[in-house]
Amino acid sequence: MNNFNTKVHDIKSLKELTIPINEDIHLFRKELKDSLRSEVRLINILTKYMIMRRGKHIRPFLTIFSAHICGKPTANSYRAAAMIEMLHLATLIHDDVVDEASLRRGWATLHKKWKNKLSVLMGDYILSKSLINMIKLKDFEVLELISGTAEQMSSGEILQIEKIFRKSVSEKLYYDVISRKTASLFSASCELGSMTTTNILKDRKAMRNFGQNLGMAFQIKDDLFDLLARASEIGKDVANDVKKSMITLPYIYSFRTLNKSDQKRMNTIIRMKKKKPKIIRELRNLIEMGGGFDYARKKIDDFSNNAMAAIKFYEDSSYKKSMIDLVVFNVHRTR
Ligand code: IPE
Ligand code: IPE
Ligand code: MG
Ligand code: MG
Repeated sequence: MNNFNTKVHDIKSLKELTIPINEDIHLFRKELKDSLRSEVRLINILTKYMIMRRGKHIRPFLTIFSAHICGKPTANSYRAAAMIEMLHLATLIHDDVVDEASLRRGWATLHKKWKNKLSVLMGDYILSKSLINMIKLKDFEVLELISGTAEQMSSGEILQIEKIFRKSVSEKLYYDVISRKTASLFSASCELGSMTTTNILKDRKAMRNFGQNLGMAFQIKDDLFDLLARASEIGKDVANDVKKSMITLPYIYSFRTLNKSDQKRMNTIIRMKKKKPKIIRELRNLIEMGGGFDYARKKIDDFSNNAMAAIKFYEDSSYKKSMIDLVVFNVHRTR
């Protein structure tokens, strides 16, 4: 049975599911704001532009929930949450330059407004700020985790570019890319929650496992948006992966199931330099015909189930409930 049937799980909004951590969120936001402040006027203008439209803050929420499940949040938990969000912000800025994206959170991307030069520098600036926050935690293991995560994330983005030039992309390679570029940060967000509250290894492992699986489900969902959502809904460009010849799970699966002539057509379309809306519609129909969308949805469910299983042994609490609600939220989210 599908675990994500709305009859089984009611779908909570982010606002609803974060009620148990409202006070913590306050502290995290203050930490984030303070950490980003600069003496350079232009930096403050750019920062303000970026955080004017707040993101969903899913990763820092994960840090806070994990901290609560494993113990009692400390000042370091909020520092870690702010650091994670900064690391995320920095990668988004760089990612939008790399993807030549024009929309983010419903607004023009930084590089569209201020050019690549400033975006690259600003991404670096925020990354450095997140490193400062990391040092404040005064914990060598945290340092190791975060630097490893940053390495994973950038290697994932590079691997993604490398694979565009391959003849075919396997499902395994796709998972490798998304595990590095997205799931690694989700996993670290949760792991940090536990590391700032306890040193029990079992907790750390459970949180890491939860975050890793939710992160995988999160990126597959994001890749579905690229093919199926409206820009006005997600506040980002749509069909941008397709336009940049970026192959994702629905494509990979359908390519495997369709016949030779459809495969040839998919290959031709994905490699076209300029893709008109009509061509994108054709590709979408081919993917639909091959069952790629349903397959991706099934995989989202599988990873979501794994995430839930990872925290099964914890006793029930409002925090555990919220973490499960977050998994369900991702399955149904529209942005
Ligand atoms: C976008 O992440 C990047 C991906 C890993 C898909 P989010 O969807 O969490 O971005 P914001 O912070 O809410 O805008
Ligand atoms: C996001 O990948 C992963 C990052 C490390 C930023 P995408 O390129 O698919 O993310 P969006 O769709 O631009 O947010
Ligand atoms: Mg992108
Ligand atoms: Mg995307």
